[in-house]
Amino acid sequence: MKLSTSLHERAATAAAAIREVVPDFPTVAVVLGSGLGGFADALSDATSIPYATIPHFPTPTVAGHAGNLVVGRSPGGPVAVLQGRFHHYEGHDLDAVTFPVRVLQALGVRTLILTAATGGIAASLRPGDIACLCDHINMLGASPLRGPNDDRLGTRFPDMGEVYPRHLAVVAKQEAAKLGFDLPDAVYACMPGPCYETPAEVRMLRTLGADVVGMSTVPEAIVARHAGIGVLAFAVVSNCAAGIADGAITHEEVLEAGRVVAPRLFALIEAVVGRLE
Ligand code: HPA
Repeated sequence: MKLSTSLHERAATAAAAIREVVPDFPTVAVVLGSGLGGFADALSDATSIPYATIPHFPTPTVAGHAGNLVVGRSPGGPVAVLQGRFHHYEGHDLDAVTFPVRVLQALGVRTLILTAATGGIAASLRPGDIACLCDHINMLGASPLRGPNDDRLGTRFPDMGEVYPRHLAVVAKQEAAKLGFDLPDAVYACMPGPCYETPAEVRMLRTLGADVVGMSTVPEAIVARHAGIGVLAFAVVSNCAAGIADGAITHEEVLEAGRVVAPRLFALIEAVVGRLE
């Protein structure tokens, strides 16, 4: 594959290959974070497309991230599920990290549901909680929109006043209440990783106004905003952020928390999908 082709062309090529397999692509897509890939296994009439077979798609390298685009029906309606995502810390540049979102844009997706494992910073958040992002702080020191802007993909200077549209969060909160749990708002700080934060960094992030911290989500949300796709993002609190509780943070603990929270999160996503047009 020639990388000299534009992002627009590469996304269009990938989208065309996907449309050959799934001609009727859903308007809602879900990105599953660490330990949360099981949502795709519960879809009916599912078609699974390995990332490796999609032109220009990168390949995930992290344990807990399968690499498939799964299209099928959830009880709420048709969805496309990205089972596994790309992170900056894997060595992918932000173009690659966000390439799937560009492909979803080319496929006509209107709503993107992002999920992520996070460390809880706000005192009110405990491991096992799910929060709904209301805003973010990009601590990557880089933007996926850096470089020449292709006006076919979005505007040069996108407004970031409401990356996570309130009306989507309201729907999610209503559905969480029906399912019997709270869905508090959270500001997500995106750190570069792959190391977890130091306690001093967590104190800094708290001072800056962050409620949860993770290593993903923000590049995808920025590109979705640029693309005019509405973003709903769920943070699974898998651990207390560094320095808040005793003991080391491990990837195994994060994956295990994902498995425990998964049934509640999946029920919420299904209910929200049923409320989207
Ligand atoms: N920090 C950053 N990313 C994370 C964490 C954390 O504590 N937990 C899960 N993902």
